[in-house]
Amino acid sequence: MSEDMIVLGIETSCDETAAACVRGGTQVLSSVVSSQVDLHSEYGGVVPEIASREHGERMIPVVARAMVEAGLDGSNIDAVAATVGPGLIGALLVGVSTAKALALTWDVPFVAVNHLEAHLYASFLEDPHLEFPLVVLLVSGGHTMLVLMEGHGRYRILGETLDDAAGEAFDKVARYLGLGYPGGPAIDRLSMSGDPEAIRFPRSMLDEGLEFSFSGLKTSVVNYVRKHPDVSTEDVAASFQAAVVDVLVHKVRRAAREHGAKAAAIGGGVAANSLLREQFLGACADDGLAGFVPSRSMCTDNAAMIASAGWYEFQRVGAAEMSTGATPNLRIRTL
Ligand code: KG4
Ligand code: ZN
Repeated sequence: MSEDMIVLGIETSCDETAAACVRGGTQVLSSVVSSQVDLHSEYGGVVPEIASREHGERMIPVVARAMVEAGLDGSNIDAVAATVGPGLIGALLVGVSTAKALALTWDVPFVAVNHLEAHLYASFLEDPHLEFPLVVLLVSGGHTMLVLMEGHGRYRILGETLDDAAGEAFDKVARYLGLGYPGGPAIDRLSMSGDPEAIRFPRSMLDEGLEFSFSGLKTSVVNYVRKHPDVSTEDVAASFQAAVVDVLVHKVRRAAREHGAKAAAIGGGVAANSLLREQFLGACADDGLAGFVPSRSMCTDNAAMIASAGWYEFQRVGAAEMSTGATPNLRIRTL
């Protein structure tokens, strides 16, 4: 087993069809993401049936493009890794089946990757020397959690959301404000011209442990706008975003302090948020923590992080059985 093995990664857990070739877990040779966002936006969210069909249409062209961009053919691929969960079952099955078929054809190992663990690996992809113990704030459309990484593959979940995920809160508030789907990027953009202190929205559970709760905040936004129909949408967006980011940054600091972390990182789609990136790095600098923020394209769903996590998985655990299926509710493997 060679350290510089090339892994083809495949990601189809939600609404991005993605493939990437990564050498040695960190050297990205190609990363292709075909987003279906325009197809789903008219419905205000991801429609699972449409997602599965589109993955089926796009999968092979996306893999072919990733291979061509990397200048590789099947004989250069040492393993094929795919997201096996969590995600939409019909969507996952397209990537898992494609990965197994390619692994069988090329006679190389099939590696099963957990999508959430892959979001953690987006940081290692860009900074392989991050020090353990590392606290990662994982904030996506479906998940919000604080994870303590004690080593590769060694995770402890320190806290999770009790209701909505942070990305879900962005999407729901954006939908209410008529900003379309996905909501995060729209709120991020609009907030640039709003006043984050215009409205003091609640910071739920700020001083209570490491859990999160965002559904009350969403209700506060709705109630406020109903009572003040002439309020500036920019101010609402900026004030809502400030409330979410305040809580996220406060808790990641607390987690790092309580668990003696040397470094902290963020991952998942919401980690693309401008205010979160700025405030997180500022907090790390104040607390003497090595803070790492992956590039925006590594925060949102992509296959380079799958190939990277697949490389670490193969070095540690090895190949998956060909009978490994797609698991919609897959959890992070904790200690
Ligand atoms: O990780 P991801 O691409 O897919 C999941 O695994 O869920 O995350 C998607 C989520 C969506 O809720 C989207 O609104 C949010 O990430 N998001 C953002 C930004 N970009 C994407 N939220 C806030 N600010 C952004 N710039
Ligand atoms: Zn994701």
